Amino acid sequence: MKIGIIGYGSMGKMLLWKFSEKGKIEKSDLLVSNRTKDKLNETKDIAEIMSNREVASSADIVFLCVRPSDLKSVIEEIKDVLKPETLMVSLNGSVSFESIHKVIGNKTAKVIPSLTAEIERSQTLIACDAGVTEDDKRKLKALLENIGDVIELPENEIGMGSELVSCMPGFIASIFDVICTSAEGHTSIPKEQIVKMVLSTMSSTGDLMLQKEMTFKDVVKRVATKGGITEEGTSVVYRDFPAVSDLLFKRTLEKRRLTTEKAEKDF
Ligand SMILES: NC(=O)c1ccc[n+]([C@@H]2O[C@H](COP(=O)([O-])OP(=O)(O)OC[C@H]3O[C@@H](n4cnc5c(N)ncnc54)[C@H](OP(=O)(O)O)[C@@H]3O)[C@@H](O)[C@H]2O)c1
Repeated sequence: MKIGIIGYGSMGKMLLWKFSEKGKIEKSDLLVSNRTKDKLNETKDIAEIMSNREVASSADIVFLCVRPSDLKSVIEEIKDVLKPETLMVSLNGSVSFESIHKVIGNKTAKVIPSLTAEIERSQTLIACDAGVTEDDKRKLKALLENIGDVIELPENEIGMGSELVSCMPGFIASIFDVICTSAEGHTSIPKEQIVKMVLSTMSSTGDLMLQKEMTFKDVVKRVATKGGITEEGTSVVYRDFPAVSDLLFKRTLEKRRLTTEKAEKDF
C-alpha cells in the first residue's frame, strides 16, 4: 500500500517520519511532496520525493497536510489524477466533507492528531464520510496507531473532540504553568525544581489513573482526607475553577465556530 503525504510542514513531517521509523514503511511506499522543494532533501533516504500530482496518482491513501487556505487549490490540482478508489485524508477539522465533495468525489476522512504524537501517545481523532469502507478504516487506523490511540467520532463532534485532545496539551500546560508560578510565591524552592516536581506528579497521576482505572474523584478521595490539608485545596478548586473551565470552553468553541465559518467561506 502506497502512502502519500502532500505538505511537509509540522503535521506532514511528523506523520512521514513516524510512518517510516515506527511503522517501518519502506521508502518505495512513502511518497511526499511540498510547495518548497528544498525542505524535502532531508527525506531523500526514507521517501520518494515527487510533485503533488505524482503523489496523488500513485498513492492508495493521500494525506493532505496543508493549511485550510491551501486545501482547495491542492485538491483542484490533484483531482483529475486521483484514482477513484484512493482514500483522501484531510488534516483539517474546519472544512466539511460537504464542501470538499463540491470539488472532488473521492471518499474522505479527517484526521486530527495531538502534539503527544511526538512520543507516540497521540489521541488521534478520525471522522469518515459515507464512502469510507470498513477496510479503509482498518488500514487508516493501523497507520495512525504508529502515533498512539485512534478515536473515531462523527464529523459534528470533531470540534469538541479537538478541544479535548488536540488543544488539551496547551490547556494542561497553561493550567500547570499558573499553578507553578503561584507556588513560587510561597516557597524558596527554585522554579525549575517546582516545575519538575509538579510535572512528574502530574504525569504519574495520569498513569496511575489509567493503569488502576481510577476516576478523578477516586484520586481526590485517596489524597484528601476529611478536614485535612489537601481537602482545603481541592475545595477551592471545586468552588472556583468551574467558572474558568466553562469560560474556556465557551470561548474556544466560539472561536472554533468563527474559524470554521471563515474556512468554509474561503474554501
Ligand atoms: N500543527 C498542529 O498541531 C495541528 C494539529 C492538528 C491538525 N492540524 C492541521 O494540519 C494541517 C497542516 O498544519 P501544519 O501545522 O502542518 O501546517 P504547516 O506547518 O504550515 O505546514 C503546511 C505545509 O504545507 C505546504 N504547502 C502549502 N501549500 C502547498 C501546496 N500547494 N502544495 C504542496 N505543499 C503545500 C507548506 O509548504 P511550504 O514549505 O512552502 O510552506 C508547508 O510545508 C492544517 O490543516 C492544520 O489545521 C495541525
